[in-house]
Amino acid sequence: MENFTYFNPTRIHFGRGQIAALDGELPAQARVLLLAGGGSIRTNGVHAQVRRALGARTVFEFFGVEANPDFDTLMKAVEIVRRERVDWILPVGGGSVIDGAKFVAAAAPYEGDPWEILLTRGSKLKSALPIGAVLTLPGTGSEANGASVISRRAIVQKLAFISPLVFPRFSVLDPEATFTLPERQIANGVADAFTHVMEQYLTYPVNAAIQDRFAESVMGVLIDEGPRSVKNPTDYDARANVVWATTWALNGAIGVGVPQDWASHMIGHELTALHGIDHARTLAVVLPSLLQVRRAAKGAKLAQYAERVWGVSTGSLDSRIDAAIANTRGFYEKLGLRTHLSDYKVGPDVASEVAGRFRARGFVKFGERGEVTPEIAEQILRLAA
Ligand code: NZQ
Ligand code: ZN
Repeated sequence: MENFTYFNPTRIHFGRGQIAALDGELPAQARVLLLAGGGSIRTNGVHAQVRRALGARTVFEFFGVEANPDFDTLMKAVEIVRRERVDWILPVGGGSVIDGAKFVAAAAPYEGDPWEILLTRGSKLKSALPIGAVLTLPGTGSEANGASVISRRAIVQKLAFISPLVFPRFSVLDPEATFTLPERQIANGVADAFTHVMEQYLTYPVNAAIQDRFAESVMGVLIDEGPRSVKNPTDYDARANVVWATTWALNGAIGVGVPQDWASHMIGHELTALHGIDHARTLAVVLPSLLQVRRAAKGAKLAQYAERVWGVSTGSLDSRIDAAIANTRGFYEKLGLRTHLSDYKVGPDVASEVAGRFRARGFVKFGERGEVTPEIAEQILRLAA
């Protein structure tokens, strides 16, 4: 494996009642911006628990961060931060709210047009306000990583930035805060996390035994506990395992020192920008098709995956790879995610449209060996029709 520096500064408070830990994490004099989505935290009691833990601190609230958080919405929160001299950002929600908080934390002190943060993918950031997160939807891993994905509907774009400055300082993971998730959202979370593991694992072997075995076990937990947790939303044990698995899927640990292939996410973000499809559902469409198109380059790892994750160890290499891809598609479908573009009423022409958007942006070489070109992306989407 390659040399690496492993870095993850997020303290995790995991388990029932842990929202109370906010009191010990935030300075008594903190001026806090509580950031939230459309209101689920008001109806499930999470907001009340957070306010109780915050006690007499000065708290401003900003509700209305939408799924696939929007630049224009978040800029209104940036105004509050600047005007009220807020010095801590407290997202209470899913990946969208936490990603939104990362943008607000970086944009508030940013000199210049904050959209540049996305265009330069975070590379020019010099500072960001501290963030502490309360997670209500497991899946993205945003609670313990330095990534953020921001949409800008006005110009039909969805772009990501990454910076060590926006790792949450701490995150609260109380599985009970996720019990009210609708089936669609928890299924999305499991599928998203499973794909995160695949994109760090399913490339080519580099003798990274810890990362491989760890990735395989995270997938195993998602396969065992994910569907159970979707069907039994208040089963604490199943949900607790799902929450912890999704965090480890994208907190950096399994991705160190190994080649990675984020092509499914890049193609998926285009489908969300163009057609508003839920993030995880775009991945369920793209990944099985990507594995098919890239099966020669990924053959060794596909065989390892077939054997260790799905128990398929006999037959020709081709048949084992077929089984690995079929099991992957089957897992998404078992969770309730459809895996073809037509299921989302998107026609095959999107393939050339997405390829054109990549070319226009200069995204012409991605995947673990830079072999996924706009032409290959087009092929992947045509196969996903
Ligand atoms: O807005 P509210 O009312 O809170 O409702 C939300 C929202 O409608 C609801 N919800 C959340 N917690 C709930 C709940 N409903 C009932 N009970 C609860 N406990 O769920 C809906 C979806 O929430 P959202 O945050 O959008 O979902 P998710 O966590 O899947 O986040 C998706 C976003 O994260 C980005 C995606 O691109 C997308 O924009 N990602 C971020 C990553 C990262 N930072 O590392 C990596 C991922 O690959 C992903 O790209
Ligand atoms: Zn994702």
